[in-house]
Amino acid sequence: MVCSGAGCVSSGCREVRDALVQGVMEFGLKEEIKVIETGCIGSCDLGPIVVVYPEGVFYQKVKPEDARRIAEEHLFKGRVVERLLYAEPATTKLIPTFKEIDFFKLQEKIVLRNCGLIDPMNIEEYIAREGYEGLAKALTQMSREEVVEGVFRSGLRGGEGPAFPRAPNGDSPSRRRAARNTWSATPMRETPGPSWTGAFWRATPTA
Ligand code: FES
Repeated sequence: MVCSGAGCVSSGCREVRDALVQGVMEFGLKEEIKVIETGCIGSCDLGPIVVVYPEGVFYQKVKPEDARRIAEEHLFKGRVVERLLYAEPATTKLIPTFKEIDFFKLQEKIVLRNCGLIDPMNIEEYIAREGYEGLAKALTQMSREEVVEGVFRSGLRGGEGPAFPRAPNGDSPSRRRAARNTWSATPMRETPGPSWTGAFWRATPTA
């Protein structure tokens, strides 16, 4: 996985990716190794970042010439390139894998839990990690009232930039009831959401 978030792009991840792809070809690994670009992994100051799975070995500040080295040493010969590992600042101890680094270990990612783990351009990888299960449940097992109640209970926020609550009109019982009645009694249509949110479509009451 080559991190291709904005931070890593600015520090040269595209060149690293190209060198890695070239190294994979050069060492005859193209049937076994996929080089995938991911979204921001979260530690932009260490970029460009390359993570090699299945072990999750975390390489930092990778340069194009290092990428060839990773291809030869790690991907071809199976030896970790220690020079590129993350070192714990206080002890300078090398931390080989992503999950052992405190910065990641102490976080619980929710919405971005798959970032850096799957190919964001491959919908099947998302589905394999339970993607869309909530949608499937809402469409096949829940009534409209239950969906509305679920949105209230979730405390879900965001969508218009400053993290407005997704549930309309606050959280008092009367507002809840009013929203539930409106949402459950009104036919919904799909309308384009604001483009800057990345939520392209959302359900909106037709009246
Ligand atoms: S952009 Fe690569 S870690 Fe944030």
